[in-house]
Amino acid sequence: MVGFPPIVNFNKSFDNNELIMWIDLSTYCNAKCPQCHRTNPNGLEKIDWLPLKQWSLEDFKKAFPKQILNKIHRFDFCGTWGDPILNKDILKIVEYIVDNSFLPWVQINTNGSVRNEEWWWELGKVGDSRLIVVFDIDGVTQEQHSLYRQNTNLEKILNNMESFSNTKAKATAFSVIFEHNRKSMYDIALLSKRRGATGITFIESDRFFKLDDPPGTGEKGYIPTKDFIFVDRSGQKQKLQPSKFKATGKSEKGSHRQANDFFWVWWDLSNDEHLEKIRHASN
Ligand SMILES: C[S@@+](CC[C@H](N)C(=O)[O-])C[C@H]1O[C@@H](n2cnc3c(N)ncnc32)[C@H](O)[C@@H]1O
Ligand code: SF4
Repeated sequence: MVGFPPIVNFNKSFDNNELIMWIDLSTYCNAKCPQCHRTNPNGLEKIDWLPLKQWSLEDFKKAFPKQILNKIHRFDFCGTWGDPILNKDILKIVEYIVDNSFLPWVQINTNGSVRNEEWWWELGKVGDSRLIVVFDIDGVTQEQHSLYRQNTNLEKILNNMESFSNTKAKATAFSVIFEHNRKSMYDIALLSKRRGATGITFIESDRFFKLDDPPGTGEKGYIPTKDFIFVDRSGQKQKLQPSKFKATGKSEKGSHRQANDFFWVWWDLSNDEHLEKIRHASN
């Protein structure tokens, strides 16, 4: 995955067609990932104060009229508060961008556990070679995957990814690593490759911190927590533990991202050397 270059000068970036648009297309989600900002860890429902909202195709056209589309380098439909595939107009929005421009490409991050294989194939046809979908694959068994990706179905995700990958659009995998799946990274990579992913990115969960009080004003910034306890939908207490992977680099101070040479790297699953690095890191 490509990072976000800092916007030094908006007008210059606009003129040079370098803008990357990060857009929350929806606050809806089928999944109940315990550490997600939209999830209440006590019962895994949506946090109370978050309204359910989504962009319509008309909203999108208004914000990005045809004549502006080629000014954008990439549309990043990931967001923070929901899943873009839950947006009822997502297929039409991708179609609108691709049919009315030649430059921007589109990236969608998703848990991949909604809609059926036909729909995913259709999305791939519409997005063609300018669409990348990043599917969350956090385990090799349903149990392992859904300890974090609660309320999703691994087999359905893999079927959807495989169907999507049979088009010219590109599928890639994204795996959030905890202690319970860190030794499975190689197997997750092989499974993802077998089911159509061209690459994979691993990150360690960065949500084992709580803000000091009052938020953002203290010296310490984020205070690390040892583990993360949540209550699932059946009222059972469950625990997530941070990965004990030994990072080779240092975390940037105050940053969520781990600056080392393994995480946040896009590994090419057709490259044997890359697979070997993942195998090594999984030991
Ligand atoms: C809120 S999600 C929105 C997109 C989509 N629903 C998804 O989950 O891929 C934004 C990003 O946060 C990532 N994410 C979720 N839980 C995380 C965690 N505990 N630590 C780090 N990243 C996490 C997701 O995998 C995704 O890449
Ligand atoms: S799939 Fe994405 S938006 Fe949905 S709960 Fe999980 S992290 Fe949050």
